[in-house]
Amino acid sequence: MSVPNGEHDMPLGGSDTGFEAVRAKERDGRARLGVGILGAGPVTQAIHLPTLARLTDRFRIVRIMDVDPAVAESVASRVGAAWSSSQEELLADPEVEVVAICSPHPFHAEQVIAACRAGKRAVLCEKPFAMSGEQASAIADVSAETGVPIIVGTMHVYDAGWRSALESAPGFTPHTIRSSILLPPNPRFEDFATEVVRPDVPPQPPADPDDADAVAARVTGGIMGLAIHNLPHVRRLLDNVDPELWRSTEVVSAEGLAPAGYLVELRAGDVTIELHAVNSENWAPDWRLVAVDDDTVLDVDFTPSYVQAGSATATVRRAGVITSIPPADHNGYEAEWRHLAELADGAEPLVARQTLIDDLVFALDIAEKSAEKARAAALERSRA
Ligand SMILES: NC(=O)c1ccc[n+]([C@@H]2O[C@H](COP(=O)([O-])OP(=O)(O)OC[C@H]3O[C@@H](n4cnc5c(N)ncnc54)[C@H](O)[C@@H]3O)[C@@H](O)[C@H]2O)c1
Repeated sequence: MSVPNGEHDMPLGGSDTGFEAVRAKERDGRARLGVGILGAGPVTQAIHLPTLARLTDRFRIVRIMDVDPAVAESVASRVGAAWSSSQEELLADPEVEVVAICSPHPFHAEQVIAACRAGKRAVLCEKPFAMSGEQASAIADVSAETGVPIIVGTMHVYDAGWRSALESAPGFTPHTIRSSILLPPNPRFEDFATEVVRPDVPPQPPADPDDADAVAARVTGGIMGLAIHNLPHVRRLLDNVDPELWRSTEVVSAEGLAPAGYLVELRAGDVTIELHAVNSENWAPDWRLVAVDDDTVLDVDFTPSYVQAGSATATVRRAGVITSIPPADHNGYEAEWRHLAELADGAEPLVARQTLIDDLVFALDIAEKSAEKARAAALERSRA
């Protein structure tokens, strides 16, 4: 006989079948991958913890580390994990089988390498995973040597809607690509999702918005913070034209947009690429990638960062036929975590190590050249 007990249908009494069910549950518990998280700021709290809460069949959060012990303790207590302010302690914990790196980006490269050297089964590192091509190559070498696979948290690369859109237009060779990102400032999303615990850091005085260095910094920050999510898609599309084309991409013009954002025009051979992002106070996020050739328009509507909705939707118009791609039930964050579990179990990576390096080098190159163009434009305006 079995009665619902609110959580499981368990047989009554101490029968063997009952104990068997309990033992099976314990075995399942052990089969789930133990997660350790380095850095427990807004991205951990508002993105990864809600995502992992939907993936309790594959993961259990074992330990959370932050250099601010109050943040580590508070965030870990929400999910019943151990906490620490020591990276070494987290990496030495044998219960931690996969590591998510969610610290500020200057620490990413060293932490990815340390996680690989600690013999973990897989590493998810928030974007950008390194600050230079040399650092990215060093990471790839250590990953190859130790056999520890790495995912970079550019979640839209793993998005099911984007992947289906690309498959619906084989051999598509666009002449125009536009990435447009309109978002409210991050804290709007972070506070919407959860009550974020922050380190106790004194606020910085605002920079003069027209200062050339501030404009250049805004463009670099925007490209490495936002455009970096779509630049891998741009590179995949350029690959269809010529796999080496991305290397000769030129920045035609670049502007820093207030209060935060950029407007950049690129040229790669005959392909025009427009990158646009702006933080607006309005609650109307819109994140879109459009690519066009003579008989195809591919239009992908991504869910914004932080938002735990389904995947992107897309429309592919090809030779007069319209294909609509409906949302999958999970977003890119969930897709990247599911892929991390597959990698830990020995699956082939969806994104090869060399692709991760080339995506980063592409983003760094565009960020540097765009910042220089925007700085020059700002200096010219100040002299006029
Ligand atoms: N994938 C996305 O959608 C997305 C969105 C926003 C930001 N990000 C990326 O996620 C990362 C984290 O973003 P955030 O907004 O939470 O950053 P943040 O700087 O606000 O918070 C990071 C946390 O890391 C802690 N920290 C600082 N140094 C550390 C160290 N050496 N080791 C461990 N912890 C340390 C800080 O105390 C803080 O609590 C960044 O790399 C950012 O680019 C990703």
